Amino acid sequence: MDSMLTNLSLIETYLEQLLGEGYSIHELHEHADKFQKKFNLVIVSTEGTSRIVLKKKSSKTVIKIGLPHHNRGEYSLFKALEHSLLGDLFAPCLQVSPKGYVLEMAYVSKPIPNARGEYYWFSPEFAKIRDNLESQFSFVKKYNPYSWGADFHEENMRMDRHGDIKIIDYSNLLSDMFSRRTSTTVKSAIRGVIKLEFPKVNLKLYCRDRVIHYNNNGKLMRAKVDPESLKAC
Ligand SMILES: Nc1ncnc2c1ncn2[C@@H]1O[C@H](COP(=O)(O)OP(=O)(O)O)[C@@H](O)[C@H]1O
Ligand SMILES: [Mg+2]
Repeated sequence: MDSMLTNLSLIETYLEQLLGEGYSIHELHEHADKFQKKFNLVIVSTEGTSRIVLKKKSSKTVIKIGLPHHNRGEYSLFKALEHSLLGDLFAPCLQVSPKGYVLEMAYVSKPIPNARGEYYWFSPEFAKIRDNLESQFSFVKKYNPYSWGADFHEENMRMDRHGDIKIIDYSNLLSDMFSRRTSTTVKSAIRGVIKLEFPKVNLKLYCRDRVIHYNNNGKLMRAKVDPESLKAC
């Protein structure tokens, strides 16, 4: 299996070379094409808050390049929760590079659908689902007291071809711990989170027929993507 993984160290070494030449880690989105050409990748998105996302053409994973505290935070949280029902909501992290600049994560194929004919979508029902979802992860603040929130907005969630929704950016839950307490390591963060008491969720989150469904222990919530018509996702 390991041979299927991308060699993240090569990408990290190239990034460090660019940083040595005076490029800023905060302007990475302007230089996504350099990684694209050098490693024969396609650009998935340069719209993230702090990372650029690329992938190999036919691979089932994405490569996230950016600040180490985001990548290490995301990786550690996944590793801490991966065998729990909470962890099932996260797109799995496969590996992180030695210095944390590069992360490999499972690719989740589709964005959450937008209302037709709207420039952007604001649904109060979906906002409630998001708040509920975020509250399930607020226990992590007992380990990371600096966290200001989970930040599960639409761009940070996607769905697979069955309509199951996965969170693809959960770095905010732990990144502050890595940036504010520099002694934090992936190992210590995993250990810190595992010690906490996890909420008992039995949570399903999916989109069917352009309706987002949230079901946690029998608590049902729904948000229609379109105000009136209901068509297939
Ligand atoms: N696992 C993934 N599968 C598919 N697309 C992804 C995945 N992770 C990120 N993306 C795309 O890249 C964008 C930026 O990634 P994200 O992790 O949100 O970075 P940032 O931390 O900079 O906000 C996302 O909004 C999404 O469009
Ligand atoms: Mg994001």
